[in-house]
Amino acid sequence: MRIFREKDYDAMSRRAASVIAGEVVHNPSCLLGLATGSTPEGAYKYLVDWYKQGLISFKDVLSVNLDEYVGLAPTHDQSYRYFMQSNLFDHVDIVPEHTRVPDGLTKDAKAFCSEYDAYIRSKGYVDMQLLGIGRNGHIGFNEPDDHFVKETHVVDLAESTIDANARFFATRDDVPKQAISMGIGAIMGAKKVLLCASGEDKADAIYNSVCGPITPKCPGSILQLHKNVVLVADEAALSKLIAAGVEV
Ligand code: GLP
Repeated sequence: MRIFREKDYDAMSRRAASVIAGEVVHNPSCLLGLATGSTPEGAYKYLVDWYKQGLISFKDVLSVNLDEYVGLAPTHDQSYRYFMQSNLFDHVDIVPEHTRVPDGLTKDAKAFCSEYDAYIRSKGYVDMQLLGIGRNGHIGFNEPDDHFVKETHVVDLAESTIDANARFFATRDDVPKQAISMGIGAIMGAKKVLLCASGEDKADAIYNSVCGPITPKCPGSILQLHKNVVLVADEAALSKLIAAGVEV
């Protein structure tokens, strides 16, 4: 695992954006696996900025997103489709039909999930998968469990995830209780993984993912088995690794 130690959120965002831009420049028709949440927001701002300066283009890029809340329409301002449109897609030259986010309103989740995986497989898997991480170590919405789920699936959100995401909704009761998430199979199938983290509240999740036992209790720990992971994190998120004497 290659680790970039950055001083703060902005430096983490800039570094993450440069890794993504590097992929797009080298492989203009790549399949990018994209993520939502506060963590990648800053990186998307840099990418939009660099697009506006004419430094990168997304015109041949394909994308698949990690996850979506069950029950939220694409127009709901907390849906992940809405997040992607407002933070990236609406501001760059990506072709709308080239972007995929799980459909939170699907009537047939089982069929939808297997079609999502079939699409990813048909493209030879994702070229670069961007990941944030939950405080409980979740990646995408693969929550701590007693087993890893390989396929795209409907997941019951952990109470701790509902708590963490309540800040985006009017009340905690408004947070959806389920999501559709890409499974561990598609994430591990990615040719490269770019894991990003910022802030002290991610320090345990990062420590456990990088140094802890490989266990579905900390889904991020599976990344220890991936051959090409780049971790971009600020010092606060790396603090437990640094304190443990891991060279970063
Ligand atoms: C969310 C998403 C994840 C994200 C994580 C951390 O619930 N499903 O994809 O990485 O939790 O979010 P944040 O970056 O806002 O801390």
